[in-house]
Amino acid sequence: MLGAPVAERVAVRPARRLRGEIRLPGDKSISHRALLLALLAAGESRITGAGDGRDVRATADVASALGASVTRLGGDARSVDYRVVSPGRAALVEPAGILDCRNSGTTFRLVAGILAGLPGFAVLDGDESLRRRPMARVAAPLVAMGATIAGRAGTTLAPFAITGSTTLRAIEHVTLVPSAQVKSCVLLAGLAATGTTAVREALPTRDHTERMLRARGVSVRTELLDDGGALHEIAGPATVLPLDERVPGDVSSAAFWLVAAVIHPDADLLLRNVGTNPSRRGIIDLLRRMGAEIEERPVGTGAGGVSGEPIADLAVRSSSLHGIDVDPAEVAGAIDEIPILCLAAAVASGRSRIRGIGELRHKESDRVAGIVAGLVALGARIRADGDEIEIEGGRALRGAAVASHDDHRLAMTFAVAGLIAEGTTLVGQPGSADVSYPGFFDDLERVRA
Ligand code: S3P
Repeated sequence: MLGAPVAERVAVRPARRLRGEIRLPGDKSISHRALLLALLAAGESRITGAGDGRDVRATADVASALGASVTRLGGDARSVDYRVVSPGRAALVEPAGILDCRNSGTTFRLVAGILAGLPGFAVLDGDESLRRRPMARVAAPLVAMGATIAGRAGTTLAPFAITGSTTLRAIEHVTLVPSAQVKSCVLLAGLAATGTTAVREALPTRDHTERMLRARGVSVRTELLDDGGALHEIAGPATVLPLDERVPGDVSSAAFWLVAAVIHPDADLLLRNVGTNPSRRGIIDLLRRMGAEIEERPVGTGAGGVSGEPIADLAVRSSSLHGIDVDPAEVAGAIDEIPILCLAAAVASGRSRIRGIGELRHKESDRVAGIVAGLVALGARIRADGDEIEIEGGRALRGAAVASHDDHRLAMTFAVAGLIAEGTTLVGQPGSADVSYPGFFDDLERVRA
């Protein structure tokens, strides 16, 4: 079916006020994992409220290419329910065609970990952006465990051709950069390895994989280390049990409305059922440290309780913000929210400094370059120096044409800026928002009405 033509640019005008309730798409990270763990588990799994962005759809397609029956049961414009019936890890099939991960680094890296332990051959690929992203970080540990991988540029870039092994070795892997994707890749390969596979990280990253594996009967031990790092151990080989999962709203999507409300002079928004996992809620706590008025009303754990993910409604309103210093450990807990945090810092009074942002250069786009160029075009004072971003806040923003480099988080950040910038903000490539937040621009129109 042909969709409506995708606009090259969307014009966003300042909003007089922001009001209303928003239901976010299901958490993207949890949705990917729920589909992949359902693929590994023999039997039927149900997933309620999975995010229905393009990234999660890519994972659903990969799961079906590997032998699961994946049925969409309905949902709304943002989220969808799935039934997944799988023969289980031991009976998955060699995919007939290339596994297209599209724009999704999470799909590529987590699926690479699964393929490493399966017999047979598979090719993992993605779009132009994914083909630029660093993949040696997953090839190296998987090859050390016994998988055979060939890829472009000396097996540092996609596509990857992977020949798995049914006799993977357990390893201890030290991640070179904070990355939940790399950690999860190695833990998923560890499911198929004999012995204890360990991942040591200098800064703890989001822990959905560990929680969700435990909930499905797999022993994963996590130790927080004295130096601030973390050690994760998985005992293999291990069987993943099927489980029904209810996915909380995506805090990374909620972040756009949190910032929209706190920087707007007349705003009052209620965000429903947001996941507040301690390893993901960094943006809430950082904004509060800047003076944001965010009220958190817990609504129980997991609403179904499955993987123990905490959930809350967030009430947020216009606030008076001041600049803060953000250290590298805090960046790891808010990695996808740094672009929108930069917008809050540009509006806040005083200076903000965000240290340890190197990984942001390797996301769907170079987000350091993209956020600096976009916010400078809008009149902010922001500069990047090595691994650091410095923002001199307090300048009024004025509308301009801003490029989002086909990066969903940049497009949504600049759209939010347009709600307070004087004049018209022209956001380039707004269609990229569909990667994580289908319906974002509808919500933008609704809350300003
Ligand atoms: C994700 C981890 C993060 C994040 C990405 C989703 C995940 O990437 O940026 O959007 O679901 O594990 P890294 O772990 O590579 O930093």
